[in-house]
Formats: sequence, C-alpha cells, structure tokens
Amino acid sequence: MGTALTPPRSPRRGRPATAAPAPRKPARQVVFGSNSPSETRSLGRQLGRRLCGEETIALSGPLGSGKTCLVQGVGRGLNVTLPINSPSYVLMKRYRGRVTLTHWDWYRLADTADLESCGFGDPQMEPGVVVIEWAERFLDQIEPPFLHIELALTGWRSRRLTMRVRGRSARLGRLIRELKKWWMTSRDGRPGTRHDPGH
Ligand SMILES: Nc1ncnc2c1ncn2[C@@H]1O[C@H](COP(=O)(O)OP(=O)(O)OP(=O)(O)O)[C@@H](O)[C@H]1O
Ligand SMILES: [Mg+2]
Repeated sequence: MGTALTPPRSPRRGRPATAAPAPRKPARQVVFGSNSPSETRSLGRQLGRRLCGEETIALSGPLGSGKTCLVQGVGRGLNVTLPINSPSYVLMKRYRGRVTLTHWDWYRLADTADLESCGFGDPQMEPGVVVIEWAERFLDQIEPPFLHIELALTGWRSRRLTMRVRGRSARLGRLIRELKKWWMTSRDGRPGTRHDPGH
C-alpha cells in the first residue's frame, strides 16, 4: 500500500512531518562594538587569557583602527610585562609571557619572498601565539585554522571588530562565542562602558 510507505507531509513546509529539525550550526562569526581604546584592550586581554599558545590571529583594518591597541590587550592576557608597540619598521617583535607572543606588522612588506626571508612560517621558529597586523596583505599565506579579526572605524572613538574562524577549528569557534558571552555580560549597566577590574 503506497500510503504506508510515505510519512505524512507537513502542510506548511511540504516535508515529512516526522523529519528531525536541521541542527543549528554554531556561529562562526561574532561582532563586537568598542567605544574606547580601553574597551578594545579589555577585549584583547580577555582573548589573550583564553589562548593556549598555538594560535595565529590575523588582524586587518585601516590605519588607526585599533590593531596595536588590541594586541596590547592580548599581551596583558598572556602576562607580557614589556610595553607592546607597533613593529612597523622591524616587521616582527617577540615578547615573553605565559607563552611567547610574536607580533608581526606586514604594512611594509613588499612581497611573499620578504615574508619567507623574515622567517614567517619557519617550523624552527619558537611556538606560541602569533598576531599579525595588516594580515589582509598576504592572508593566503597564513595556514588555517586561524582567527581573523577585522577592525573598522565606525566613529571617533568607536570601532567594530568582527571575529571569524578561518578553516576548521571547533576550539576557536568556542573561544569566540565564549568571548562574546563575556562581552554581553560584562556591561556594568551604563551604555558604552565595560567593567573589567583586572584591566
Ligand atoms: N575604540 C577604540 N579602540 C581602539 N583604538 C581607539 C578607539 N577609539 C579611539 N582609538 C584610538 O585609535 C588609535 C588606534 O591606534 P592603533 O595604533 O591601535 O591602530 P592600528 O590599527 O594599529 O594602526 P596602524 O595601522 O597604524 O598600525 C589610537 O590612537 C587610539 O587611542
Ligand atoms: Mg598598529
């Protein structure tokens, strides 16, 4: 009997009424709005605290969008004590912390040959967290999975930071969702302010 083989159809969607709902995919992108340099540093610090020491973070965004500011926060989260500033002229700086932080700035890099001669991707390099400013210049040279953070200027003191996991990494996905949860709950009630006593 034909009817016995076919499950009844849902009148609205036209698919079998017994079909299980499609599993909800976890978000692979989260967006943060920062209203001050200290908020951006707090976000970086919380990110740094959650890193285990083998992550690469690619930062892209125009001049003055807050990339170095964010890295300063990441450094704090990794217990780096030396002041962090832009390695624009030296291309790369390394800091000791809970794990090594390698800070690149690709603004002045001419081509990928320069990248190799500077030791980027060299397996002999000390492991640790790698953060790259102006990563959009050679994004295809970064081996996935990595965290890509795009910074945009949305006002004099406001910035939008969009975090995406490039490649497959359930851990990085969890990390950015956890960070978003912290961001949503750390408001102390006043719009545009963030309570981070450790900062
Ligand atoms: N919400 C904010 N987050 C971060 N920086 C902000 C914010 N509001 C204002 N600023 C200012 O913007 C500037 C950001 O400078 P920063 O050096 O971090 O940018 P950058 O993206 O690294 O620039 P560059 O491309 O030149 O390296 C600082 O002067 C900082 O005080
Ligand atoms: Mg910078």
